[in-house]
Amino acid sequence: MGIVIAVISGKGGVGKTTATANLGLGVALNDKKCVVVDFDIGQRNLDMILGLENRVVYDIVQVMEGDASVKQALIKSKVNENLFFLAASQSKDKTVLESDKVHKLVTELKEDFDFVILDAPAGIESGYEHTIEFADAAIIVVNPEVSSIRDADRAIGILDSKSYKVKNGEEVAKYLIINRIDADMVQKGEMLKSEDILEILSVKLLGKVPEDKGVIDASNQGKPVILDKKSLAGQAYLRIASRLCGKKVDMKDIEVANSGFFSKLSGMFK
Ligand SMILES: Nc1ncnc2c1ncn2[C@@H]1O[C@H](COP(=O)(O)OP(=O)(O)O)[C@@H](O)[C@H]1O
Ligand SMILES: [Mg+2]
Repeated sequence: MGIVIAVISGKGGVGKTTATANLGLGVALNDKKCVVVDFDIGQRNLDMILGLENRVVYDIVQVMEGDASVKQALIKSKVNENLFFLAASQSKDKTVLESDKVHKLVTELKEDFDFVILDAPAGIESGYEHTIEFADAAIIVVNPEVSSIRDADRAIGILDSKSYKVKNGEEVAKYLIINRIDADMVQKGEMLKSEDILEILSVKLLGKVPEDKGVIDASNQGKPVILDKKSLAGQAYLRIASRLCGKKVDMKDIEVANSGFFSKLSGMFK
């Protein structure tokens, strides 16, 4: 049986879909069989980042309604044979999701994949609740800014009270990704520090991802940034994916990225 991980944030636009695509590919690169599922019904974004938008024939709503089988709807990645994708429906709105149908789908996927990664919609409405409902673990993505932390805190509250595991007296594992860190801004005190974010949210840190223009280019090309060996965000996602696969990878302190010898030296002459 695989593990179901919901990628959540509360606030929109913090990098959930980007994280889902990169982590999915990252665990696939670690030889784990993975399916990434777009739960952002009505939006559809993950297909573009994975470069699979033209391959979508059936979506999860059609699977849940019994109009297509899971096998028919699964789309194979073009870059890694361990990675599969299930698309969101574009035509229907998120109120179409129902608990028992979500449960059936997720259970079926768990039987075939090591990792089932669900990309949640923004907000904490019913679409969000269905994404976390049957999750074994959640990855909370935040940006180092107050509004993102506040909304993540709310999303965690719902996770801790409404998920199936919690209802059964168990715990949902929670991991944090701090995304879009700008080392200079942190150093100048213009951006929240990781330690403060961790203290507020009280969640285990899975990794930090720097602000990186390469992410947007990569997404536009349909090739997740993790494939770009030179990209700092890509390298961060590689480390995070390895951690998810149980490998011990040291936490790189990207908040002091510019404190190397040469930048210190140049700083002396400023
Ligand atoms: N580390 C990063 N550096 C720069 N841009 C990023 C980074 N992570 C995400 N983005 C950009 O932020 C925007 C929102 O990301 P997305 O993954 O769609 O967020 P969400 O799914 O939470 O709404 C996208 O344009 C994406 O390319
Ligand atoms: Mg998204």
